[in-house]
Amino acid sequence: MTKKINLIIGSTREGRVAKSIADWLVTTAHDSGIELGILDLKEINLPFFEGPSPAYFPPSTEEAKSWQAKIVESEALVILTAEYNRGIPAPLKNAIDYLYADWNDKPVHIVSYGYIDGGASATKHLLDVLGWVKTKIVADPQAISLTQDTFDESGKFKDVEASLGGYKGAFITALKAL
Ligand SMILES: Cc1cc2nc3c(=O)[nH]c(=O)nc-3n(C[C@H](O)[C@H](O)[C@H](O)COP(=O)(O)O)c2cc1C
Repeated sequence: MTKKINLIIGSTREGRVAKSIADWLVTTAHDSGIELGILDLKEINLPFFEGPSPAYFPPSTEEAKSWQAKIVESEALVILTAEYNRGIPAPLKNAIDYLYADWNDKPVHIVSYGYIDGGASATKHLLDVLGWVKTKIVADPQAISLTQDTFDESGKFKDVEASLGGYKGAFITALKAL
């Protein structure tokens, strides 16, 4: 039986490049025989977390239960994160904060992207957060370097294969380790 692997898209802003990168990762995985589902935080649209600590109290709101179900059914996760002010986007942190035990032992692979160091600072932040909720990091996180030349005036990749193709080998290896 194939493992249910979902990819969390951590950026929700208008005009985000996250979706193009996520689509490329999903297609690249598919071409290698691995199916990835998408958990798009923009579509899921979780409100700001306002409950008691999920480490002690189970989710009680409908949106929290629905998010929990998505994470529970994910046997493994890819987390795609942008870097905002050297950390992860607030919607991603918010989504993590909703749960505790459901993250424990969850196999995770991190892919970041950014201009300065491919989002490595966001990954550092994310590793700290995921360490606290006890996920299992299966492979070295990947950091995709963006440059001003990566996108056209409308914000689309000029040549997605030229920009992302070099990350394919390590990505597939990580997926197989999940
Ligand atoms: C609020 C904000 C803060 C940012 N901070 C960083 C940063 O610390 N490091 C970096 O490399 N890029 C930073 N950027 C540039 C992002 O890498 C770039 O906008 C990228 O497209 C964001 O991903 P997204 O389009 O999927 O949201 C920042 C962008 C925004 C909107």
